[in-house]
Amino acid sequence: MAIKLSAGAIVVSISLSLAFFVGHGQPVLADGGSGKKHDDVADTVKKEVAKAMKKNRRIGAALVRLLFHDCWVHGCDGSVLLDKTPDGGSTEKDAANNIGLEGFDLIDMIKGKLGESVSCADIVVLAARDATYILSRGNIAYHVTTGRKDGVRSSAAAADAVLPPSTFNFTQLKANFAARNFTQTELVVLSGAHAVGVAHLSSFRDRLDNATATPISVRYQNALRDHVEDKTTATVPDPTEMNNIRDMELAFRNASGYNATGVDTSKAARGVLDNSYYHANLQNKVLFRSDWELRNDTTGAAGRDMREFRDNAARWYVLFGNAMAKLSEVPAEGTRFEIRKDCRTTN
Ligand code: HEM
Ligand SMILES: *[C@@H]1O[C@H](CO)[C@@H](O)[C@H](O)[C@H]1NC(C)=O
Ligand SMILES: *[C@@H]1O[C@H](CO)[C@@H](O)[C@H](O)[C@H]1NC(C)=O
Ligand SMILES: *[C@@H]1O[C@H](CO)[C@@H](O)[C@H](O)[C@H]1NC(C)=O
Ligand SMILES: *[C@@H]1O[C@H](CO)[C@@H](O)[C@H](O)[C@H]1NC(C)=O
Ligand SMILES: *[C@@H]1O[C@H](CO)[C@@H](O)[C@H](O)[C@H]1NC(C)=O
Ligand SMILES: *[C@@H]1O[C@H](CO)[C@@H](O)[C@H](O)[C@H]1NC(C)=O
Repeated sequence: MAIKLSAGAIVVSISLSLAFFVGHGQPVLADGGSGKKHDDVADTVKKEVAKAMKKNRRIGAALVRLLFHDCWVHGCDGSVLLDKTPDGGSTEKDAANNIGLEGFDLIDMIKGKLGESVSCADIVVLAARDATYILSRGNIAYHVTTGRKDGVRSSAAAADAVLPPSTFNFTQLKANFAARNFTQTELVVLSGAHAVGVAHLSSFRDRLDNATATPISVRYQNALRDHVEDKTTATVPDPTEMNNIRDMELAFRNASGYNATGVDTSKAARGVLDNSYYHANLQNKVLFRSDWELRNDTTGAAGRDMREFRDNAARWYVLFGNAMAKLSEVPAEGTRFEIRKDCRTTN
């Protein structure tokens, strides 16, 4: 365990061993004079995330996405959580690319337990780490630090300027990740998060219309169109579908011609974060254009990565954990920071 003292902040690398719910006998440090111990903080987040996911497993996917959407927009600073800022105006939550973002109530609840000495940014990072561990049935574990401060800026325009929309082509995706110092392989690795969660029709409608669609399995396209049309009503004009064809009912998978060889389709594996995204993508049975675009790398390197991750789950687990850890450490940009009392507003 690395302990680094810097500029008044105590940064502790919290070890998340496979003995997840067992104390790990590390030295504990007080944080910010509150009397709260860092291990206690990590344990509290862990416990609350586990409890929330037991009640509603969906929340896990939301927490994983929340990390990406917080850290991509001027670093991991909790800015995605703000409902309002001192200068008014719309916040990141209003961004088009933040459609469907969830998990805010759970972050608030955890913040309520941890109090004023723990930043909202740290809670997002810890919660995503714990959600990843649980969603992956313990296969993805990684280390994160704590000691982040919360930012005071948040705007919808800033979020839409840097978060990738589902319509990006391969060149745009690669450039978007490079702007954050993430490699092409890390783009392919992190896109595997789309093994879990849901998406709104508006995020993949382009794929259903032959006039705008990037290549997509015709059987999958037809099954998806039928499925989503059945759910679209005046009161639900923008319904959601599961990101992963694995999580669709058997009749849908059959109709789509899904080849489940190598994929755990047991009931217990529904909603699990594993490498099944690559099985789906290499069969052209994924929702977003941005997913399909990974097949469209003219150098062939992204395709090679995808075949490797499809065939070697253990390799992907390691790389995904590394990339999530890296994402968790994207430094906050800005000049004014605080530890928010309430994650939804600045102090
Ligand atoms: C590479 C560029 C990416 C694009 C274009 C993209 C786009 C999207 C879109 C459009 C949705 C559905 C939103 C909705 O309609 O409700 C979504 C969902 C999701 N994304 Fe991504 N994403 C990208 C990368 C990532 C990364 C890096 C992660 C995390 C490591 C991630 C994790 C998720 C998760 C977990 C969901 C499901 C959320 C839920 O069920 O609440 N995505 N993404
Ligand atoms: C990707 O999209 C951008 C912006 O629309 C466009 O300029 C570029 O030509 C596209 N790249 C490819 C390879 O299609
Ligand atoms: C991706 O596919 C489209 C056709 O669907 C093509 O126009 C484009 O050049 C391809 N390459 C890249 C790198 O986006
Ligand atoms: C960029 O990412 C690499 C690993 O992918 C890392 O070693 C390096 O420190 C990063 N550089 C910056 C400036 O963040
Ligand atoms: C879309 O195109 C495919 C062939 O590429 C065709 O089989 C399918 O019927 C078309 N769907 C519609 C709704 O026109
Ligand atoms: C799906 O296909 C399998 C194998 O082809 C078959 O045994 C099963 O009855 C089908 N189920 C449904 C609901 O279509
Ligand atoms: C399904 O995929 C496996 C390899 O992933 C392949 O060996 C098998 O032939 C495929 N089955 C069909 C029916 O395409």
